[in-house]
Amino acid sequence: MEYTTLGATGIEVSRICLGCMSFGDDDWREWVRGEEFGHELVERALDLGINFFDTANMYSRGESERILGDALDGHREESVVATKVYFPMRDGDPNSGGLSRKTVEQELSASLDRLGMDTVDLYQIHRWDYDTPIAQTLRAMTDAVQRGQVRHIGASSMWTHQLAEALHTSDREGLERFATMQNHYNLAYREEEREMLPFCEKERLGVMPWSPMARGYLTRPHEEYMSTKRAETDDYAQEHPYADNGGREINERVQELAADKGVSMAQIALSWVLHKEWVDAPIVGASKLSHLEDAVEALEIDLSDSDLAYLEAPYEPVPVSGHD
Ligand SMILES: NC(=O)c1ccc[n+]([C@@H]2O[C@H](COP(=O)([O-])OP(=O)(O)OC[C@H]3O[C@@H](n4cnc5c(N)ncnc54)[C@H](OP(=O)(O)O)[C@@H]3O)[C@@H](O)[C@H]2O)c1
Repeated sequence: MEYTTLGATGIEVSRICLGCMSFGDDDWREWVRGEEFGHELVERALDLGINFFDTANMYSRGESERILGDALDGHREESVVATKVYFPMRDGDPNSGGLSRKTVEQELSASLDRLGMDTVDLYQIHRWDYDTPIAQTLRAMTDAVQRGQVRHIGASSMWTHQLAEALHTSDREGLERFATMQNHYNLAYREEEREMLPFCEKERLGVMPWSPMARGYLTRPHEEYMSTKRAETDDYAQEHPYADNGGREINERVQELAADKGVSMAQIALSWVLHKEWVDAPIVGASKLSHLEDAVEALEIDLSDSDLAYLEAPYEPVPVSGHD
């Protein structure tokens, strides 16, 4: 396994982060697998040297955190655990979502209970809260760091000007700074290259992209995409037209290069993300144990500048997706 320093945190993380959205409760999303799979996946990840795990309070409404915490029992110190807050947790309780001090404090405490941990390594805001001043959120998160409940704070999909406002607020008020950005980025969605990624590089934020394989779209030929339960039932993938604006041709080029190099399409798609210097660790989603092995092997693939250019050439700008 390769490790890298996560932005300016000084923490060493595996270059593959395991995304924990794929296990929990299939009442939440039909394609989500159960507890046993979650345990097997985390165990396999540890065996492969993966030490970086990303979950959120909202994944399976807390079940993902609970299963991850159980599965890491005995391995807490060697792992780097990230979770998130923002999306509503309970119907009819508007304060179970958002980023007010009340929500951040209550939801953090519930996340730590489910994880069975006193401290989480990275606590991220899942989205921007247009109803709460960012200074209030940052102050609540800074207090959590001072209480020893959180080691670092991070941000997820938002506009670059919002991240700039947050970092400026932290610097001005002497509050914790967001140390990481978790954003939507893959060969078929590259809008983040305009401003967010160069800005993160300049500010030394650790970058951990989500959906690095376009939620599965880049892991098999276009015509076969709808062949899995996830593809059939993942609303987000259906809303985001990965196949548009050059996406279909990118899918074909991924196939071609995979055949040339004797590796899988998933490995080419992931290798492309891993070759981007502003990326620390893509957050990989796995619906089978073998997906993890493939991801780790992708670290060994060498893509030349002309391979990268060939994969990128068909891309055309697409509407921003992943945040409002
Ligand atoms: N911050 C945010 O807003 C946000 C949003 C989304 C996700 N996330 C995080 O990012 C993580 C990853 O997201 P994601 O699941 O959308 O990412 P992804 O890695 O782009 O997609 C994962 C899907 O790709 C397919 N796949 C993966 N490896 C494969 C392989 N080796 N061979 C064939 N198919 C393969 C599987 O699809 P099939 O099941 O169809 O085969 C799998 O479910 C999540 O778990 C979560 O932690 C964060």
